[in-house]
Amino acid sequence: MKVRKAVIPAAGLGTRMLPATKTIPKEMLPLVDKPVLQYIIEEAVSSGIEDILIVTNRSKTAMDDYFDYYPELEHRLIRSGKDEMAHELRAVADMANFFYVRQRETKGLGHAIARARRFIGDEPFAVLLGDDIMMSEKPVLKQLIEAAEKYNCSCVGGQWVSDEMLPAYCTTDLAHVEGRVYDVRHIVEKPKPEEVMSNYAILGRYVLTPDIFDILDALPPGRNGEIQLTDGLAELCHQKRMVYVDFDGRRYDTGHLTGFLEATLDFALKHEETGDWLRNYIKEKAKTL
Ligand code: UTP
Repeated sequence: MKVRKAVIPAAGLGTRMLPATKTIPKEMLPLVDKPVLQYIIEEAVSSGIEDILIVTNRSKTAMDDYFDYYPELEHRLIRSGKDEMAHELRAVADMANFFYVRQRETKGLGHAIARARRFIGDEPFAVLLGDDIMMSEKPVLKQLIEAAEKYNCSCVGGQWVSDEMLPAYCTTDLAHVEGRVYDVRHIVEKPKPEEVMSNYAILGRYVLTPDIFDILDALPPGRNGEIQLTDGLAELCHQKRMVYVDFDGRRYDTGHLTGFLEATLDFALKHEETGDWLRNYIKEKAKTL
């Protein structure tokens, strides 16, 4: 199994980040000095992905514009001696082969991924949620791809989450295989207390076989009347082997305010231009709190 393609569903309405997301896609909100989506694409590329399909919608054209060339701006930058920035902009557009498909109706994450069927064809593929970013030594998606390729099956990534947070995610029934890898026996979306099988939730990264498409197409609407990816995964893990990687790294959900602020702080602290400045600023600020 070789994973070359990735799908980034980014057609959600971003209602938890309103009013900021009324006209700016939440995936394009700047995290320190680049949009959230760029971090996700960098993770995909450094995990070996070559072709990236972004699932978008009619109000999110800023995403395809960002990963395009902008010759007028590049010439202006070069004329004013800012060659490095001009090259940086071009390098972003050249990072991967970008493709786009519109989700015409916002019918859920599973429905968004089903739009990728013709692009994916008959190969395994990665999914990276458009608002989940990772900070890790080894790219999180790469950790999943290695497991998927080793066990020749689908793979979902996740981590242990607290009892309080679990009802917002999903619960999994897992059997240990080795190291950080488990077999997935069952998955339940947004569990009630009596449905909890473990605190290991699935968080934003997947490697799926194309079997998922028939399953998604046949799924009835689930929670909120939407086609839920987790319902599809629950079915896929019963039909075929699926492994779970308890990934090494920190995950940030930038789709809500506190997750976005945590990511902003942590990435700014790590950034070479802002790290020292922010550390000092926080220390000074803390004295007055
Ligand atoms: P979320 O549930 O976090 O995104 O979906 P949302 O629907 O934009 O969130 P709120 O609740 O309104 O704030 C996870 C990912 O799936 C995409 C989103 O863009 C996000 O990257 N998604 C969700 C779609 O592409 N299509 C959908 O119909 C729903």
